[in-house]
Amino acid sequence: MYNLETGVKDHDESRQGEALILEANREKNNGRKLYIESYGCAMNFSDSEIVASIMTNMGFETTSDYKEADVIFINTCSIRENAEVRVRNRLKEFGAVKNKRPGMMVGVLGCMAERLKSKFLEEEKLVDLVIGPDAYRDLPGLIDQVDDGNRAVNVLLSREETYADISPVRLNSNGITAFISIMRGCDNMCSFCVVPFTRGRERSRDAHSIVNEAIDLYAQGYKEVTLLGQNVDSYKWESVDKLERVNFASLLELVANIGPDLRVRFSTSHPKDITDEVLYTMAKYDNICKYIHLPVQSGSSRVLDIMNRTYDREWYMERVQSIRRIMPDCAISTDVIIGFCTETEEEHAETLSMMEYVKYDFAYMFMYSERPGTLAAKRFTDDIPEEVKKRRFNEVISLQQKHSHERLLEQLGQTQRILIENFSKKSKLDYSGRNDKNATVVFPVDARYQPGEYVDVLIERCTPATLIGRII
Ligand code: SAH
Ligand code: SF4
Ligand code: F3S
Repeated sequence: MYNLETGVKDHDESRQGEALILEANREKNNGRKLYIESYGCAMNFSDSEIVASIMTNMGFETTSDYKEADVIFINTCSIRENAEVRVRNRLKEFGAVKNKRPGMMVGVLGCMAERLKSKFLEEEKLVDLVIGPDAYRDLPGLIDQVDDGNRAVNVLLSREETYADISPVRLNSNGITAFISIMRGCDNMCSFCVVPFTRGRERSRDAHSIVNEAIDLYAQGYKEVTLLGQNVDSYKWESVDKLERVNFASLLELVANIGPDLRVRFSTSHPKDITDEVLYTMAKYDNICKYIHLPVQSGSSRVLDIMNRTYDREWYMERVQSIRRIMPDCAISTDVIIGFCTETEEEHAETLSMMEYVKYDFAYMFMYSERPGTLAAKRFTDDIPEEVKKRRFNEVISLQQKHSHERLLEQLGQTQRILIENFSKKSKLDYSGRNDKNATVVFPVDARYQPGEYVDVLIERCTPATLIGRII
C-alpha cells in the first residue's frame, strides 16, 4: 500500500490524516503537467524516475513537451564544467518560455543544485526551486512554498536516504531494460571528483527492496536490469538483526536467480574494490552479462596516487588479469582523464600503454576539468596547457577507436544471443539490441520476433562502433 502523497510505502497509523492532505494536494495539482529533463550519469536518470513517482502521486501528469508544462524540472550534473554550461544554456531556453507563461515553475535538481545551493537562485532569476539529490521527499512542501509565491531550497544531504520504498515511474521506458539504484553517494574522495560533495556519503539500499524491484520489473515483462552505484563493489547491507548480510557478489546472485531470461548488468566497478568473488559470481551465471566498466583514469602510478584512486598501475593490471583468467571472454570498458595536474609526457604515454595492455572494448575519455571545492582544486594547479591536453586527448581517442574496432572485428562469425530492445535508429527495417559485452548489434526485422525477445544473431560485419548480423 503506497502513501499517494509521497509515493512512500505506508506502514503507520496516521493514514487518515495523510489521506486528507493527499486529497487536497491531488485536487490542487490535478492535471498540472510536469516536464523533467536529466543530465549526467545513469544515477541521475534513475533519480528522475523517483521524482516522477513522487510528483505523479501528488497529482501531476508527466509531459514530454516542456512548452506545455506547468512545472519544468532539470536534473543536473556537475562532473565537468561543460556539463554545467549545458544546463545554464538550457535554462535560458526555459526562460524564454517562462516569460510567455508567467505561472510556470522551474526547478533545478541534482548535483548542480547541491553544489551551488541558494547561490543558484541569485544567479538564475528564473529558477523557483533548488533541490538536492537527497531531498526529493520534500517536494510536496517545496512546491507549496513556490505556489505561495516564494522561492524554495532544500539541499540537505542525508546519511540514510536511499528512496528504497519508492516505486520509480519509468520515464522514456522501452519496457525492456531498466536501471535499479542499489546505493547512493560516494566515500572515495578521488581528488578530481565533485561527486562526494554533490551526493554525500555512501550508503547501500536495503537488499530486499532491490530484489523486489527487480522481481516487479520482471513480472511486468522487463528483460534486463542494470544495478547502479558509484562503486558497486563496496555495496554492503545487513538486516537490523544482523542475521542477513549481503555484499555485491551475493546481491548479484540474488538478482541473477530471479529468472534465467532476466539479464543483469551493473556499473560502476572500482578497481580497488572489485573482488574475485564478484568475478566468480559473474562466471557462474549465464544471465550476468560478461561486461565490466572498470575506470582506470590514468596508466601512471604517480598520477593515480595524486588522483587519490588508491590503486596503482600494477594493481589495476592484476585485476584485469583476474578478469581474463576467470572470464576469458569478458568485455572491459573504462574512463580516462587526460591532462590531470602535473601529468608529464611519459605519464601520458603510460596511459596509452595501459590501453594497449587491456585493449578496452569501449572508453569514455575526458580532458581534466577542474571542479571548485575538490581536493585537486585546492592542492594542485590545472597546469597542462589546453593545446597539450587536446593533443593528448586526440591520441587517446584515436587509439581507443582502433581498439574498439578491433574488438568488434574479433566477434565476426560468432552467433550471439541478443535481446531485441528497439527498432534501429536509422531504419525501421532493422532491430537493434546489445550483446553480452554491451556492444550494439543491428539486424533485419524478422516478424516472428518482437522487441523484448531474445534471438540468436550471426554477426556478419561491423562498422567502427556497431555489429551487424542476421537472426538465425
Ligand atoms: N564512480 C565512478 C566515476 C563516476 S564519474 C568511478 O569511480 O569510476 C564518471 C567519470 O567522469 C570518472 O570516471 C572520470 O573519468 C570523469 N571525471 C570525474 N571528474 C572529472 C573531472 N574533474 N574532469 C574530467 N573528468 C572527470
Ligand atoms: Fe568520484 Fe572517485 Fe567516487 Fe567515482 S569513486 S564517484 S570518481 S570520488
Ligand atoms: Fe554528474 Fe552527479 Fe552523476 S555530478 S556524473 S550526475 S553523480
